[in-house]
Amino acid sequence: MTTRRKLIAGNWKMNGLKADGLALASDLAGRLNGAGATAFDLLICPPFPLLFPVADAIAGSALALGGQDCAAKTSGAHTGDVAPAMLTDAGCRYVILGHSERRADHGEGDALIAAKAAAAHAQGLIAIICVGETESQRDAGQANAVVSGQLAGSIPTGATAANTVIAYEPVWAIGTGKTATPEDVRAVHAHIRAELEGKIVDAGAAKILYGGSVKPSNAAELMAVENVDGALVGGASLKADDFWAIATSCR
Ligand code: 13P
Repeated sequence: MTTRRKLIAGNWKMNGLKADGLALASDLAGRLNGAGATAFDLLICPPFPLLFPVADAIAGSALALGGQDCAAKTSGAHTGDVAPAMLTDAGCRYVILGHSERRADHGEGDALIAAKAAAAHAQGLIAIICVGETESQRDAGQANAVVSGQLAGSIPTGATAANTVIAYEPVWAIGTGKTATPEDVRAVHAHIRAELEGKIVDAGAAKILYGGSVKPSNAAELMAVENVDGALVGGASLKADDFWAIATSCR
């Protein structure tokens, strides 16, 4: 069986000002430095204005930094957008793309997400491409079909296990406290694993993260599910104790 190192990613979303972000990031970097060898890689994705100061605060630690979005364009007259090169300039190795909140709040579709991922790859970033069904789609028995469509549309040509991570985040489980059962997660992750064949080079080595109300009390159970290669954590990533407890539940 392929062994894939777990990735525990914190998506801070639109939370925290500079002092909060610096305190959280420094705390996590300190824990990671003191932990020695770990069974996981740890990533934080703060809001854009915090990237440079947080990068300084975690310099020299193994804590990785990522953005929460990037533009498909490299530079120019695109007010409010952030280019992939601006993320790498700020010390990012990762970027989250196609999060359901961006799909819903900003009308982002699969083609745009694929273009963003291609631009991120061109800049050497690892794209974390998010997919997941809504509650009504799940109730209608369409979870796998929705995820298949999103994967087909949002993974760009040139995606490899080294430059692309998939995050399965059922929309109904995000920020609701409702977590998918390990059996739901096992089934969708197995489906995603099969679907990645032919879309991602070295598909068997690609990481598939689960996201949606991951917390210390359910992390060990979820992280032990086959084809779950880590977590994309929202609310619980804003508390160092909780985020660390989730990470250290990885075996
Ligand atoms: P919660 O962990 O707050 O449910 O958020 C999940 C998420 O959307 C991470 O990207």
